[in-house]
Amino acid sequence: MKNKIVLTGGCGFIGSHTCVELQEAGFDVVIFDNLSNSEITVLDGIEKITGIRPAFYQIDCTDKGAVYQAFQKEGPIAGVVHFAASKAVGESVQKPLLYYRNNLASLMNMLEAAQDFHLKGFVFSSSCTVYGEPDKSPVDESAPIKPATSPYGNTKQIAEEIIKDYVHTGIDFNAIILRYFNPIGAHPTAEIGELPRGVPQNLLPYVCQAAMGIRKELSVFGNDYNTPDGSCIRDYIDVTDLAKAHVCALSRMVDGKSKDQIEYYNLGTGKGVSVLELVNTFMEATGVKVPYSIKGRREGDIEKIWGNPSHANEVLGWKAQVPLKETLANAWRWQMRLREKGVM
Ligand code: UD1
Repeated sequence: MKNKIVLTGGCGFIGSHTCVELQEAGFDVVIFDNLSNSEITVLDGIEKITGIRPAFYQIDCTDKGAVYQAFQKEGPIAGVVHFAASKAVGESVQKPLLYYRNNLASLMNMLEAAQDFHLKGFVFSSSCTVYGEPDKSPVDESAPIKPATSPYGNTKQIAEEIIKDYVHTGIDFNAIILRYFNPIGAHPTAEIGELPRGVPQNLLPYVCQAAMGIRKELSVFGNDYNTPDGSCIRDYIDVTDLAKAHVCALSRMVDGKSKDQIEYYNLGTGKGVSVLELVNTFMEATGVKVPYSIKGRREGDIEKIWGNPSHANEVLGWKAQVPLKETLANAWRWQMRLREKGVM
């Protein structure tokens, strides 16, 4: 019998790509999503790629009754990946209680369900944001956790603490915390990708929209940082590569291979890329011009951070593989698909 995995937020950017990879690896997938920041049509894209339509429940994970009902209906579940969360940094400053409630109440419900329904593994989507501005890059998992600079970032730190405290009570399942660097790209088939609502806050969706003429130009936030070209440096990780790490993490727990009841992995490429490098590589990869101009720094931005993924490479047997150019070409193909469909 196939192992069944619940993906909360499975219609989102990382969730949908993870659904595809899990199905292709032979898992059964059940999605819980309230569609607050995603579209139901994502299920069509997943089905086109894999030939399988995942089971879907339109539920909000802060609603414990609804979560428990869905678990009861689905029968034995092997694991959960808890993606569902609000993620806009600026909005979190305006609406902190919304962020604490959405991101933490849902986590606690899912942890309780994992225990009550005898799951084997729990994967949590965390972020390199927990490292703040690191003392040095590449950052490994032992780097200090820095005070959060936004309620959103704080929810990731608190969530990690909640999981750690719960694991220490002697629960029956294992947990894996995945700290993502900057996920970008789209599925190579262009059937699924990122669907930002309104003005994109993250770099690559903005680059794609500026290249398409939806936005007048990209603002590059700062060229006076202490970096080789003066723009900020990040570790951009292909979303399909990232999705595959979830398959490795779940397999490890479901197969009983975890060494520790809670494990932490950085998921990045190990390579830092500046904003200007990313824009230039996009133009090379697609042959499309990106209009941009240099603007002032964005408040709260980190100057430079990139990850050391050796722990994930060695223990999970996972490695980022897709070259940046290919990732950027995939993102552009997805942007063109959105245009064809009249979405934007
Ligand atoms: C941001 C969030 C982080 C979150 C992550 C999710 C902030 C301060 N941090 O990280 O908490 O986990 O998204 O993916 O918002 N840039 C431009 N012009 C743009 C957009 C971005 O120059 O229009 C630059 C930024 O200044 C930054 C880089 O591109 O240097 C990457 O930005 P972004 O995609 O927002 O990611 P993070 O800042 O790493």
